[in-house]
Amino acid sequence: MKREILVTDDGSVTIHLPEWNEQYHSKHGAIAEAMHVFIETGLEHWIYKNPKQEISILEIGFGTGLNAFLTSLEAIKKNLQINYSGIEAYPISDKEIEQLNYATLLDASDEAFLKLHQSSWGASSEISQNFILTKREQFFSEINDSELYNVIYFDAFGARVQPELWTETVFKLMFEALKPNGVLVTYSAKGSVRRAMQAVGFVVERLPGPPGKREMLRATKVEILS
Ligand SMILES: C[S@@+](CC[C@H](N)C(=O)[O-])C[C@H]1O[C@@H](n2cnc3c(N)ncnc32)[C@H](O)[C@@H]1O
Repeated sequence: MKREILVTDDGSVTIHLPEWNEQYHSKHGAIAEAMHVFIETGLEHWIYKNPKQEISILEIGFGTGLNAFLTSLEAIKKNLQINYSGIEAYPISDKEIEQLNYATLLDASDEAFLKLHQSSWGASSEISQNFILTKREQFFSEINDSELYNVIYFDAFGARVQPELWTETVFKLMFEALKPNGVLVTYSAKGSVRRAMQAVGFVVERLPGPPGKREMLRATKVEILS
């Protein structure tokens, strides 16, 4: 499928899929969206609730590596120990990576960003003392992890273009992959998505969305104590 680079409202770039009229991030700001949905509403919420320094994160759709990059910078800033697994079936090309301007905009080094992309698929790589990355080239439907993660960044393309990824079948895999009290965050606020999450056992909150979006969802695997 054809992919083009697009500049979003906060100056950060994203990838546009003309055939689907879909982007890897919000047109209202790729960095702004990722910071709000995944870092502030996902990672920071989990840290607030569980003041431990060791966190394991699963990302659904590694894509440009923006969420991984922001998370690796937070890990250093807050002295966290993060184990991060990114799932991706269609890795982006070196030419696309070169055009991503995240390091410049975030006042970080290009090397730190490139390290994420240069790390091997299917193996764990120490990106920094605070951040271990495991990139897995596979389809989301192939995930069969059990109780491994504290936080899931659910960043698939929208239900308009990939409805099969926003179903009870997929959220069941996500529920299983989370540890008790783990949280899943996503930019979507669709009623059908919320109901699919609830059907597999999540407790779901509707929260303020990133720029250009009224709401987003956070789903928690509430631990049931007997
Ligand atoms: C919205 S983009 C992810 C954006 C990414 N989080 C970032 O920061 O750039 C969705 C990603 O899911 C990948 N993808 C789409 N369908 C998939 C599938 N069935 N299994 C695995 N990856 C898939 C796409 O290639 C794309 O990279």
